[in-house]
Amino acid sequence: MIKAIKGMEDILPQDIAIWRWLEDTARRDLESYGYAEIRTPILEETSVFVRSIGETTDIVTKEMYTFKDRGDRSLTLRPEGTAPIVRAYIENSLGKISPELKVYYIGPMFRSERPQKGRSRQFHQIGVEVFGSASVYADAEVIMQMNNMLKLFGLKGYTIKLNTLGCKKDKDNFALALTNYLKDKASLLCNDCKTRLEKNVLRVLDCKNENCIKIVANAPSILENLCPPCREGFDKLKGTLKEMGIGFEETKNLVRGLDYYTGTVFEVTHPDLGGQDAIGAGGRYDNLVKEMGGASVPAVGYALGMERVIIALKKDMSLCANVIYVATLGDGPKIQGVQIAEKIRRDRDLAGTIVITDVKESSLKSQMRAADRLNAKLVVIIGDDELKKGEVILRDMRSKEQLNLSIEEVIPKLREKARC
Ligand code: HAM
Repeated sequence: MIKAIKGMEDILPQDIAIWRWLEDTARRDLESYGYAEIRTPILEETSVFVRSIGETTDIVTKEMYTFKDRGDRSLTLRPEGTAPIVRAYIENSLGKISPELKVYYIGPMFRSERPQKGRSRQFHQIGVEVFGSASVYADAEVIMQMNNMLKLFGLKGYTIKLNTLGCKKDKDNFALALTNYLKDKASLLCNDCKTRLEKNVLRVLDCKNENCIKIVANAPSILENLCPPCREGFDKLKGTLKEMGIGFEETKNLVRGLDYYTGTVFEVTHPDLGGQDAIGAGGRYDNLVKEMGGASVPAVGYALGMERVIIALKKDMSLCANVIYVATLGDGPKIQGVQIAEKIRRDRDLAGTIVITDVKESSLKSQMRAADRLNAKLVVIIGDDELKKGEVILRDMRSKEQLNLSIEEVIPKLREKARC
């Protein structure tokens, strides 16, 4: 049997509803903040990633799908979205069209990592990039939007971890301080960290090895190495997030696995994901546009891993009612059911809802089974009795609660119940 490539999964029809719903919800939310969609090619010249993500990072050294094309050019399947967008930003002079630019993207990324729950070789990200503001208010808005969108998805129990790496100078000073601290402890570090100590010392801070965790517990903190403007900026960001009611955990060892970050970095974790607990991450990259050949343009952004968001949502059982099933028994109820289904599909507040009606004259039992298979949260049930009384039954498939509603009450009730 020919099989899909390991770590690259089909998204099957029975699962597509949640993907589409997630994408539609994200688009609507992002566009309400003034983000415009950008779509870049899935393949880029390899240098786009090596220069930005960093030559010594895990992504570049171990995880990229890189190959030569027929013209002997080295190409890479994009492992992330930020570097291609910066490439497109420079190439298309997007900064001239608008000095402040907010873009979002939704699409597949590729990393050759060892597949496990929440970690695949083709995965999907919803990401944003904001160009042209060095202010912490841009960081605050990016984090606020991400937080609001996660709430719209119905996600609960996540933690936003926040740190700063300071400016390039602070980051370099800190790398030096950390190297000095770790130098005489090198023999106690795991093999990966021994290499990191030489090539990318900050990464030792987020190693998952127990010994390494113990060793870095007393390491100098980046916060001790911040210059006054960076310290003030970080305090202002934390104050602003608090004012906006956004909960976060200051996490001094959060450093991120991509070299382009300076300043604010953040990560969102969810306890239901086990080892791969980051459902999203981001931060500021004020030097990247310049380093890739553009003007000096500050920028900040984040990306969510869609597979991981879906795992967390399924665990929470707070999936939104994106599927409503209309179950009917008999000819009269069937026609009424089709009319109600049409009303639901055309209702603006229920936009994006999938409404399924039975087209096989099946028994009520098999229609309920179909509703279950489709993961419908709500089922509208109409039989001859209901038709006579001008009523429907609305069944909530999760709570098993049933309500008798008049025809006029159906849409308002669905609007209320279909919400996350
Ligand atoms: P990242 O931390 O490499 O950041 O990835 C962001 C998210 O993508 C992760 O938190 C995770 O949810 C998901 N992800 C990463 N690798 C995998 C994988 N192998 N399988 C499943 N999900 C995965 C970036 O990619 C940056 N470009 C984010 C950013 C945007 N920073 C600024 N702007």
